[in-house]
Amino acid sequence: MITKRTAKVAGACLALSLAAAACGGSGDTGGGGGGGSDSNGVEVFSWWTSGSESEALQVLIDKYDTETGGEVSNAAVSGGGGANARQALATRLQGGDPPDSWQLHPDQDLFAAVADGSVADITSTFEDNGWVDVIPQDVLDMLAVDGKYYAVPVNAHRGNVLWTSPSVLEENGITWDDSTTPDQFMADAKTLSDAGVTPVCLGDKDVFAASQLLETLIMGRVGGDGWNSLFSGDLSFDDADVKSAVEDYVDLVDMANEDHSALTWDQAAVMVGEGDCAANLMGDWAYGELLNKGFVENEDFGYVTMPGTSEVFDYVGDAFVKPAENAPNAEGEDAWLSLLLDPTVQADFNLKKGSTPIRTDVPLDDFPPYQKGAANDFRSKQIVSSLAHFQVAPAEFAQAYADAVTALNGDGNVDSFLESMTAAQSSLLG
Ligand code: BGC
Repeated sequence: MITKRTAKVAGACLALSLAAAACGGSGDTGGGGGGGSDSNGVEVFSWWTSGSESEALQVLIDKYDTETGGEVSNAAVSGGGGANARQALATRLQGGDPPDSWQLHPDQDLFAAVADGSVADITSTFEDNGWVDVIPQDVLDMLAVDGKYYAVPVNAHRGNVLWTSPSVLEENGITWDDSTTPDQFMADAKTLSDAGVTPVCLGDKDVFAASQLLETLIMGRVGGDGWNSLFSGDLSFDDADVKSAVEDYVDLVDMANEDHSALTWDQAAVMVGEGDCAANLMGDWAYGELLNKGFVENEDFGYVTMPGTSEVFDYVGDAFVKPAENAPNAEGEDAWLSLLLDPTVQADFNLKKGSTPIRTDVPLDDFPPYQKGAANDFRSKQIVSSLAHFQVAPAEFAQAYADAVTALNGDGNVDSFLESMTAAQSSLLG
């Protein structure tokens, strides 16, 4: 007998070219009914709760509903950058209660999940859908272990963008472009501050926003190759250029909005749109958020890469996985993962999220100017991986960095920050 559920899943298979295992109805059908309220539902775990993040996630949820007739139970845990979500997820995984699919970052964040055995091998899904031909090699390398794939990427966010207030810059006679040096940027920040204007607004209630600001200042001083050398052990955190960047960071935080530790990343981004400060350093999820809040590109806000980083694309990727064990709804999980790289979903999702589609064959004609430029840069600049987002280094190292940034925010002690990071480098990178 063909039940309603079988019919819907069969339809989804046709529409989405699902992996053979899911469509063929092979052995592993999982234990329960997923997290949705119906038997074809899936529970999806992420940290996407801001206005733009929720709308982007809704594109994926709606697609799952349209294609499978099943419901997505949205298990998002708030807290930008995902620190809260990561903790909640770890508790569930330890308890043998995984969601059907969860968000993580490519690179070391994924590699740790592969090493601890929590995520399933989805190589056949990659092969059946021909994804290796439409995803850039740099990204594929961050999704695979020993030639096997474990996560479906949805986007490429750029982490090294300064969102600027055109009116504030113009009123103060300041121009920032790709040729602006870190020294000039710091001199301008001082000029703005002396004039009673907040040069950089910050919302580091969630520490990633502070970690990311410092990360991009360091990149501006040491370049993309220097950044990579910090994680191969070829460049010490004690390096003079790193030290200058950390000093710049302390100065910028001193000049930032006083309530920075009480604000979230999206609240700080909105301050730029409202002309309350000259700039905010944030990944281009802030672009999605500024548009979501009704601000107009090149009128209410502008953008420039963090001075010194115009040749670098600080890559922050979002990806989804499915559990290796205790899968609540294996068929639904495959349907969910497959829809993420549907070309129309790629366009609709990334338009809301502010990011670049990870598929290189998605037409960008309908994308706004910032996103066209970012997509172009993603294909032509040096891609480096983010530390603030737990990508470029193992979690212990990324956490040591987050803790050192928190300490630095409290005491402003540059030498002690550098000592902590040099110690973390030698103990964790060998
Ligand atoms: C994620 C983005 C998200 C941002 C703020 C980053 O770690 O990659 O998708 O919008 O955190 O929550």
